[in-house]
Amino acid sequence: MTIDISKFDHWIEAWKYFYDIELQQVPLDPNAVLISSVNEKGVPNARVVLVKDVSDDGFVFYTNYDSQKGKELFHNSHGHLTWYSRLQGVSIRAQGKIEKVDSTISDQYFSTRDRNAQISANISKQSQEVESRSVLDNEFKEFEKKFEGKDIPRPSHWGGICLIPSKVEIWKSRDDYLTRLHDRIVFSIDNGVLSKKRLYP
Ligand SMILES: Cc1cc2nc3c(=O)[nH]c(=O)nc-3n(C[C@H](O)[C@H](O)[C@H](O)COP(=O)(O)O)c2cc1C
Repeated sequence: MTIDISKFDHWIEAWKYFYDIELQQVPLDPNAVLISSVNEKGVPNARVVLVKDVSDDGFVFYTNYDSQKGKELFHNSHGHLTWYSRLQGVSIRAQGKIEKVDSTISDQYFSTRDRNAQISANISKQSQEVESRSVLDNEFKEFEKKFEGKDIPRPSHWGGICLIPSKVEIWKSRDDYLTRLHDRIVFSIDNGVLSKKRLYP
């Protein structure tokens, strides 16, 4: 059935609608999104992350702030997110401002993570060269030993990033796929005011 995406009054309604279906029907990484950034020369980079919280404030994911993505996103204060559902024939993409999430929220999320993931977040100098696999494994073991029986602290270089959208496009394939006349609805948020328009496919 082709759903009429122009019925959504806010992008978050569309996200919730499609993401709920994805959660129920896609067992692996339904929350995988592509995060794009540009470096200081304007050269683009994109990588997959798992989005952990979505509200009308924006999309939150967790990473190393000193990673390439961290540096590029904070340097430009802007980024881009793309989510695609093969199952539903939907893409949701958002352009917007980048902000660190409050440290208490990052602490809270970090505390729910598996201990191994907590150790990795501490030892990984994400995006830097590592000499070999054994160097990485030894760093993990050393850290693990050092913190035996103790809580693993959240490193200050690791936490949440929120992409606060200024533009969100919902793309939905039509059942009559052959025409390629798919639906595109764009929400723009300007000084807190939301507007909606339809684009040619
Ligand atoms: C399915 C999947 C999920 C991932 N989730 C995350 C994530 O939530 N956070 C993260 O920092 N990297 C995640 N990664 C790794 C990133 O894609 C990327 O390799 C890493 O963050 C380094 O990117 P950068 O060098 O551009 O900063 C994930 C990769 C895949 C394939």
